[in-house]
Amino acid sequence: MNNEIEKYRKKVFKTIEKYKLIENKDRIFVAISGGKDSSAALSLIKEYIEEKNLNAKVFAYHINLGFGYSDRLEEEVEKICDSLGVELYVTNVKKEFNLNILEISKILKRPICSICGLIKRYLMNKIPRELGATKIATGHHMYDMLINYYKNLIHGNFDWNLKILPKLKSEHPKQLTKIRPLIFAYPHENKMYCEYKNIPITKISCPYSPNFCCYLSRREDYKIFQILEFSDKNFNNFNLELIRGITRFNKRIEKTIEAKKENYMECEICGEPTNQKICGFCKLKLIYQKQNMDNKISNLY
Ligand code: AMP
Ligand code: FES
Ligand code: ZN
Repeated sequence: MNNEIEKYRKKVFKTIEKYKLIENKDRIFVAISGGKDSSAALSLIKEYIEEKNLNAKVFAYHINLGFGYSDRLEEEVEKICDSLGVELYVTNVKKEFNLNILEISKILKRPICSICGLIKRYLMNKIPRELGATKIATGHHMYDMLINYYKNLIHGNFDWNLKILPKLKSEHPKQLTKIRPLIFAYPHENKMYCEYKNIPITKISCPYSPNFCCYLSRREDYKIFQILEFSDKNFNNFNLELIRGITRFNKRIEKTIEAKKENYMECEICGEPTNQKICGFCKLKLIYQKQNMDNKISNLY
């Protein structure tokens, strides 16, 4: 194993250990998109459990969003999981929930990626939990976190920045604890690791997504991305030190914040945890179903 890979693996393993991301009897579901980041997270969690001989299990979870390329992507995700020897669970948004994200985005006049994000967040908690998960892991890396950090500062969403942590503890019996083992990893390190391990990551990328490769298409994200890249080129490890500082601060005030937190309610329709009477997912479904009914009725005349 070359030095760079070894250094990266040690860094991720240290994050898992220090923040107790994997504990005895855990059933960790890794939300896998097919890209380098979540594939690296899946592989490293599996390696960690095996190397430390832990009494814990890892599974993969993929959401088929029902876009043109989604079935092909699902097949590629299957290949990744086969190559890593990890059991995969898939939810198909169109087939199982009868939701068409592109149509919903038009009806609500909201960006596709914001509808997609809401649906993914909802399903990533509900379905793995129903399958017996104790935690859900994502492939979020340092740049994802720092871009959000700057955006939240600029737009005044200060509370959201308090959630920049390797482990977000569950606040409700129906809410899974979220873990981010790659929070201190650079995106290029995840790529390097996948190449080294020969993980068949996908080349398909979503044209609507605000993810790493599409930062180019979102002006604000791209500006911040350039700042991050500039810092990395000119000030050695500045971004790593920044994300470490942010998480240390958030960890320090975690207890105070927990004490002040309002209780989560359960959605009156689906029973999932939410801070409103009806959760965002059910509201979306209601509007979509109503619009479909209206269209059917107007077609009768
Ligand atoms: P994104 O919001 O696309 O930047 O993705 C953030 C994280 O969400 C990724 O690192 C994955 O862990 C997870 N994720 C993204 N898309 C999917 C998907 N279609 N199915 C399952 N997990 C996903
Ligand atoms: Fe969400 Fe493409 S993955 S909009
Ligand atoms: Zn609901």
